[in-house]
Amino acid sequence: MVDKRAAQSHRVGSNGSPSYENGLSLRLWCVEQKDSFLGRLREFFDAHDGKVSDKWRSYWPAYETVMRRFQKRAVRVLEIGVQNGGSLEIWSKYFPKAHHIIGCDIDPACGTLEFDADNISVVIGDAAEPETYERIDAICDSFDIIIDDGSHHCEHIISAFPHVFERLKVGGVYICEDLHSSYFDAMGGGLERPDSAWAFFRRLSDYVNLEHWHQPGQHETPMRFFEERYGLSLPIEMLAHVHEVRVVNSVCIVEKRAPEDNLLGPREMRGQVAAVNGAILENQDVTARECVQITEADLRLPGKSIERVAHETHWEDIAADHQSNLLALRAEIEQMEIQHQKILDANAAAHQETLRENAVKIAQLDEDLEGCQAALAHADQVREALECELAEAQTTLERSQISQAAKLEHLETVRRDTQARLEAVQASLSWRVTTPLRRLANSLGRSR
Ligand SMILES: C[S@@+](CC[C@H](N)C(=O)[O-])C[C@H]1O[C@@H](n2cnc3c(N)ncnc32)[C@H](O)[C@@H]1O
Repeated sequence: MVDKRAAQSHRVGSNGSPSYENGLSLRLWCVEQKDSFLGRLREFFDAHDGKVSDKWRSYWPAYETVMRRFQKRAVRVLEIGVQNGGSLEIWSKYFPKAHHIIGCDIDPACGTLEFDADNISVVIGDAAEPETYERIDAICDSFDIIIDDGSHHCEHIISAFPHVFERLKVGGVYICEDLHSSYFDAMGGGLERPDSAWAFFRRLSDYVNLEHWHQPGQHETPMRFFEERYGLSLPIEMLAHVHEVRVVNSVCIVEKRAPEDNLLGPREMRGQVAAVNGAILENQDVTARECVQITEADLRLPGKSIERVAHETHWEDIAADHQSNLLALRAEIEQMEIQHQKILDANAAAHQETLRENAVKIAQLDEDLEGCQAALAHADQVREALECELAEAQTTLERSQISQAAKLEHLETVRRDTQARLEAVQASLSWRVTTPLRRLANSLGRSR
């Protein structure tokens, strides 16, 4: 099915496609589109399940308008900013016949990414530096599509531009993403800043109309400001190839064509009745330069250009802003220093107090330590005396034990002798004869 929006854009578009007015051309164009259309970029993105890609939703239809015509070609794509590598995979799927899809990233980690498609390669380097392009050129030195999705810092975008635009093929497109950064101070931008990336692309759009302000031999160009500001070379010969500068939210698309294809062309008229202004018929088939008298003042060649005056004024404003910011910052720093000093003083007083308290505690502990040491010395003396006494007592005890043992042995001997003698008496005849007498005596004794 033919995409109506694409057809509409062709009707009013400037990419050389046939117009609606010509029925045959439209039919041919429809056939060609049907044949070359493999699916919408948005659908490729939605179906993607590999490495992560990070884009904004509104980019896809804008990209579709300039990328679709390359879909079935052996296209060469360069993207600044690889990160996880997802967008490289999506380009590879969307352009199945792609010759090269090269990603350039400053982060060496991107060099470790592995891709199934062998037409994808990654070059590590800063896209604003010329050396990086030597490595890119070694793989491929001209591209149909170049996308800048790198740092988004205004300086990087503008510095990379001449390198990439030089490598863009005639008929190719350059796309710069995430240009909302152009309004962020931290990214070198700001609504009023004349050196922002958006200001650069605004200025670049003047080159679409180059023939109306440029004269052969004219050296002062509207890009001089950016050349001086960022140390670049933006020669007129290169920028004469700017055919179209298209902007949508946060994106700028620049199409490159041969300078001769960027001309307004002759004035054309159709019809026969010019009832109100017949004089215009004299301008039939003349060029803009031929039919409009351009003055030196229009071209603003001599002296300072209006551009430069405007930029210098901008710089004065910016300098004044910076001056007032500086004063505010200085006042803030002074306040912070006062606060800081107060905190330091309070901390120092608290530390002094703690030091004093600790000194008192240490003196007390020293005193306690001395007392303990004296008590310990006394205890040592007592222990030594007691040990002597104990040794003496043990000697006495041992001696007494020896003498007691001797006495015990002697008494045992006596007991045994006495026992023997008693047993001898009891066994004697006289003991047995006198036994009744002893019993009588005992019973008498009991009855008394
Ligand atoms: C937004 S991410 C790229 C996302 C990727 N194109 C995608 O669609 O998923 C930006 C990348 O630019 C890289 N980058 C930052 N500054 C750069 C520079 N000066 N040159 C090349 N790459 C840069 C960062 O390392 C980061 O990986």
